[in-house]
Amino acid sequence: MCTFTASKEKMMSKRYTITAALPYTNGPIHIGHLAGVYVPADIYARYKRLTGNDVAFICGSDEHGVPITIKAKKEGVTPQQIVDRYHKIIKDSFEDFGITFDNYSRTSAKIHHDTASEFFKTLYDKNEFVEEVSEQLYDAEANQFLADRFVIGTCPKCGNEESYGDQCEKCGTSHNATDLINPKSAITGNVPTLKETKHWFLPLNKHEQFLKDWILEGHKKDWKPNVYGQVKSWIDDGLRPRAVTRDLDWGIPVPVPGGEGKVLYVWFDAPIGYISATKEWAAREGKDWEPYWKDEDTKLVHFIGKDNIVFHCIIFPAMLKAEGSYILPDNVPANEFLNLEGNKLSTSKNWAVWLPEYLQDFPNKQDVLRYALTANAPETKDNDFTWKDFQARNNNELVAIFGNFINRVVVLTNKYYNGIVPKPGEYSSVDEETLAAINAYPSVIESSLERYRFREASQELMNLARLGNKYLADEEPWKLVKTDEERTKTIMFVALQIASALAILSEPFLPFTSAKLKSILAFNNLAEAQNWTDVSSNEILLPIDHQIGKGELLFSKIEDKEIQAQLDKLEASKKANEAANKVVEPQKDTITYDDFTKLDMRVGTILEAEKMPKAKKLLVLKVDTGIDVRTIVSGIAESFTAEEVVGKKVTVLVNLAPRKLRGVESEGMILMTETPEGKLVFVNPDQAGATNGLTIS
Ligand code: MF3
Ligand code: ZN
Repeated sequence: MCTFTASKEKMMSKRYTITAALPYTNGPIHIGHLAGVYVPADIYARYKRLTGNDVAFICGSDEHGVPITIKAKKEGVTPQQIVDRYHKIIKDSFEDFGITFDNYSRTSAKIHHDTASEFFKTLYDKNEFVEEVSEQLYDAEANQFLADRFVIGTCPKCGNEESYGDQCEKCGTSHNATDLINPKSAITGNVPTLKETKHWFLPLNKHEQFLKDWILEGHKKDWKPNVYGQVKSWIDDGLRPRAVTRDLDWGIPVPVPGGEGKVLYVWFDAPIGYISATKEWAAREGKDWEPYWKDEDTKLVHFIGKDNIVFHCIIFPAMLKAEGSYILPDNVPANEFLNLEGNKLSTSKNWAVWLPEYLQDFPNKQDVLRYALTANAPETKDNDFTWKDFQARNNNELVAIFGNFINRVVVLTNKYYNGIVPKPGEYSSVDEETLAAINAYPSVIESSLERYRFREASQELMNLARLGNKYLADEEPWKLVKTDEERTKTIMFVALQIASALAILSEPFLPFTSAKLKSILAFNNLAEAQNWTDVSSNEILLPIDHQIGKGELLFSKIEDKEIQAQLDKLEASKKANEAANKVVEPQKDTITYDDFTKLDMRVGTILEAEKMPKAKKLLVLKVDTGIDVRTIVSGIAESFTAEEVVGKKVTVLVNLAPRKLRGVESEGMILMTETPEGKLVFVNPDQAGATNGLTIS
């Protein structure tokens, strides 16, 4: 076993500080967050650890900022209650999902308040801020300055009418609240007035040249095109000073003279949260935090969603540069957005798959979601998550390829050799090629991961399982065992090496599966632990005579009814959301009893019906009113076909003045009503139905 040491020495250990965007604590984590940030970050962190690096994987709750204040107001509780609730929910669900943060901290922690205050004071002392009294948007009724999400207006860059004060979610641009066109208070809906107030501004313009040199020149090749392109467009537009303080009462107090009653802008304090969380972790582990942020040899990588690009590529680096003692990110591999069943994910509209609910509905299926989100990750463009795709990824790939291969290997090894790894004979050329292919996989996967191509990497892993399946299908040990025992041993030996490589290389992607597989293969009984780099050496991963355990299914089929239940849940949330947003028409003006008795209503029967040509809504009816047979044009064609209304008894208003509709004279009206779900139904003389007020159709 001499090559172990050689391969282990070859590995160059490096220090990595890997951060994942601090989630706002105004709701649980959903699949959009996972696909965009946390799953790729966790794959990367696990991979870096497995390849022998010194990793600090850092995250925490972003507990300041307007979204939290708004949520608290809505629920009539304090912001602290909101952040306490969601911090726990988020932290627990990350843990259950197998996200291996070295520290998950929170920005309400004392260490963070201290770190952020100190950071602000350093910049203040170095004269890195511009202090300025200016007119800011103000809502007199709410007695509140309107920054960030407290104000909505038209984006000066793209024309989106629902841009926030600090950022437009449509085009990603970050701006000052006073740049908004037609601003409106999100609290009262009032048009804001202007009021003077003092703030501290970070003069981004001062750092423009540095940002150009560092990113536009220095990272043209290695940053993702979507990230580079956005940064370039902002820099090209010209950078301006940005206020980094706010007139709010929820946040970190501004720690300098004149800062009373003001707090740090959430996007000033939150990224410093990466630093405070590292400090907290280092103190707990008895380490020094500083090399993770100040040593030029450390690689700092920020995993974020695309709406965070400006803050991580321009504002935070400008802050770090102004402070002077920190390193800058080596890369910011931001992802695009994930949609759900064709619609934008939305916390407020409850259009999401929530992680805590997923973990409940699909216990022990963490890896399935990790895999589905990785295989379909929104890396270069927005992507759509569908439950059908989720099911297909599970049934056709994890079960049919990966699971099937492992199951065959384990079952056959137990059946033929009581679970003992057989001694191979001479290798055939196919065996040689297969073993060489295994050796090549680590570097194939690494090369994808080094370029932050997680989809590609996950597909390479699946290709290794495919290779295993194909090898068994071609070699057919279950047939050969009857005629050539020696050859069968060689085949099973090679297949067991593929299974072992899968156990090791799947760890970043499918950590629960990897652990299960290692336990099936009894890795813990191996004399020397096998790791990532051993797969690429010529080393035997599972030695002759090693005893493996009994089989256990790695994956199980997901049935149509489980998928349907998820689709039904989404449908229900869409309905509930529509109902909540439905505007109930106010009652019309009162009429007198005499007005009412003027209406002459009779029970009629529809004798004939046909669609009005080129009119989506209209049916032309012949109705027997009991007085006569007459023509009535009715706007019900979107709810009923002509065929289904013939023969129906209906209530008819017969003394309505005739009126021409599309050239056809209509002599009366059919009375309709609407169910609470918004469906039109007849005011049917034969049946009592739920009525919700009369509609004249
Ligand atoms: N809370 C922000 C969001 O969800 C992300 C903050 S990232 C940090 O969009 F850098 F500020 F921490
Ligand atoms: Zn915009």
